Amino acid sequence: MLIDTYGRVATDLRVSLTDRCNLRCTYCMPEEGLQWLAKPDLLTDDEIVRLIRIAVTRLGIEEVRFTGGEPLLRPGLVGIVERCAALEPRPKMSLTTNGIGLKRTAEALKAAGLDRVNVSLDTLRPDVFKTLTRRDRHRDVLEGLEAARDAGLTPVKVNSVLMPGLNDDEAPDLLAWAVENDYELRFIEQMPLDAQHGWKRDGMITAGDILASLRTRFELTEEGSEKRGSAPAERWLVDGGPHRVGVIASVTRPFCSACDRTRLTADGQVRTCLFATEETDLRAALRADDSADDEIARIWKLAMWGKKAGSGLDDPTFLQPDRPMSAIGG
Ligand code: 5AD
Ligand code: SF4
Repeated sequence: MLIDTYGRVATDLRVSLTDRCNLRCTYCMPEEGLQWLAKPDLLTDDEIVRLIRIAVTRLGIEEVRFTGGEPLLRPGLVGIVERCAALEPRPKMSLTTNGIGLKRTAEALKAAGLDRVNVSLDTLRPDVFKTLTRRDRHRDVLEGLEAARDAGLTPVKVNSVLMPGLNDDEAPDLLAWAVENDYELRFIEQMPLDAQHGWKRDGMITAGDILASLRTRFELTEEGSEKRGSAPAERWLVDGGPHRVGVIASVTRPFCSACDRTRLTADGQVRTCLFATEETDLRAALRADDSADDEIARIWKLAMWGKKAGSGLDDPTFLQPDRPMSAIGG
């Protein structure tokens, strides 16, 4: 088991498959992109599957989420999913994507054994999308979403980040659209993970703001708080249900004490938290010895044992991690 000194057990593994992306969301990357990881530093498909096998068979991981950058840019994605679906016990598998290219791959991903997708979409307005992501790809995302729903990668969840002055007036429109299209919408508070270090606490749209805005048009009833479990989204029934809306308030209502996650970067580093400033290398052990699975499991457990109590976001001395969101994975 992966357990830390606070008694938290990690059962959910997030695997970043690449740090590259075809969008440039302003809350994530600068316009010119970033210095991408070098090919030899990236884990190969075989190495990724080996680490996931260790996590699933020896460390109690039950759920695997593939992230990026943009994971659909990884050529071997479908094969990786297929091989993970053959593991015993079979982990639940989902994908966090910006949706571009999903139209082409949704069917193959479903056939390979993927259970669900989370698609990031912050706006219903193509012009605002272009300002926010610096790319004119709004239509591709909408088509990707439909393809995911039609392929049965359900429930399809949509992640939205609201940015002041850009799309902060769109919460009710996004919810009406999500209800109509059978997507489960979740708002994520903007976190200090952008490569440009431009995040300001004062400027951010809070969970409180989002709920107030939604309540101008919808009746929201809180789902029992026991249902929140370790899921970071607090959920509300929309107009009595059955549709729900979630808010992930990492900044104003942190859920660190219920965290059940461990993370793996595309270059084989374990991160115990999105906001961790330290990482633990698994790649060296992986490459040193084909039969080092015991050793890798031991290093991973030791990393988990060192997991900090919280993100430190509410501490005035908070330091943003060196890696931006795109190189950590959501
Ligand atoms: N704050 C909040 N959410 C972010 N995401 C990317 N960067 C940030 C940030 N700074 C979101 C993306 C995607 C998920 C992986 O995380 O929009 O939905
Ligand atoms: Fe790409 Fe996601 Fe970052 Fe946007 S938030 S630039 S889609 S990695």
